[in-house]
Amino acid sequence: MKFGIIGAGPIGASISKKLVKNGHEVKIADARNIEHLDGKDIAGTPVAVEEVINNIDVLLLSLPLHVMPSIRPIIDQVGEDVIIADTSNYYPFRDNQIKEIENGMVESVWVSNQLGRPIIKAFNNLLAYTLENKGTPDGTEGRIAMAIAGDSPSQKQVMIDVVNELGFDAVDGGSLSDSWREQPGTPAYCTELTKEELVEALKKADKEKAPIQRDKVMEKFSAGMTHEDIVRINRETYNS
Ligand SMILES: NC(=O)c1ccc[n+]([C@@H]2O[C@H](COP(=O)([O-])OP(=O)(O)OC[C@H]3O[C@@H](n4cnc5c(N)ncnc54)[C@H](OP(=O)(O)O)[C@@H]3O)[C@@H](O)[C@H]2O)c1
Repeated sequence: MKFGIIGAGPIGASISKKLVKNGHEVKIADARNIEHLDGKDIAGTPVAVEEVINNIDVLLLSLPLHVMPSIRPIIDQVGEDVIIADTSNYYPFRDNQIKEIENGMVESVWVSNQLGRPIIKAFNNLLAYTLENKGTPDGTEGRIAMAIAGDSPSQKQVMIDVVNELGFDAVDGGSLSDSWREQPGTPAYCTELTKEELVEALKKADKEKAPIQRDKVMEKFSAGMTHEDIVRINRETYNS
């Protein structure tokens, strides 16, 4: 398949490498200018953002959520058949307190509104380290799973298949409106669960509690923590 990626942080970079390793064609861009890609550990062809949207099947957005409105002019030029998948999460300290989300709008619904396009929510609920290092072949016992949400069953299925190929089971997280169940602060968020555990975690999510738990976790994180410390704190806090 042919992929375009906008955003070359830990998630976008990791996806680019995994896709190329699996034989896909990948173009990757920075939302601002191509010089921002200099020195980054990415795979595929680095291109300008105007070019990344041409001749692709899937466009992956991997940007801080507050950047979304600025890429609307590019998204307006994306072909109708192209699947747009987004990895973003809302963190108020980084994303400048977005009023609609603070008032309860589902994060991916807000993103979709900003882009003027339906999106598939994917890759938001595993940490970059997990994505990069903990994928396993289909059928492996204890394989880690990721929730994927969106309104188009066929587009969602394409992304479920991509995620499986990249080393993870996928769980259907429902429609975009349901996708608050996989946002920061929920039991499904970056807790490295198996498929069966993730299905239960999505059911247990509490919409009111999630932003409080998200902020509690941020207070508990400190420099020098290992990846396993972070996953343990996520599990303890998001299930309390
Ligand atoms: N990191 C994780 O473990 C993780 C896990 C799941 C989901 N996510 C979500 O996935 C998204 C991407 O996260 P990430 O950690 O991979 O990377 P990130 O730090 O959010 O950066 C992603 C990309 O956006 C660029 N960028 C930063 N500020 C920008 C701005 N003002 N305008 C345009 N581009 C800008 C970055 O460039 P520079 O590198 O030059 O700053 C980078 O290419 C975020 O929404 C994040 O919440 C992250």
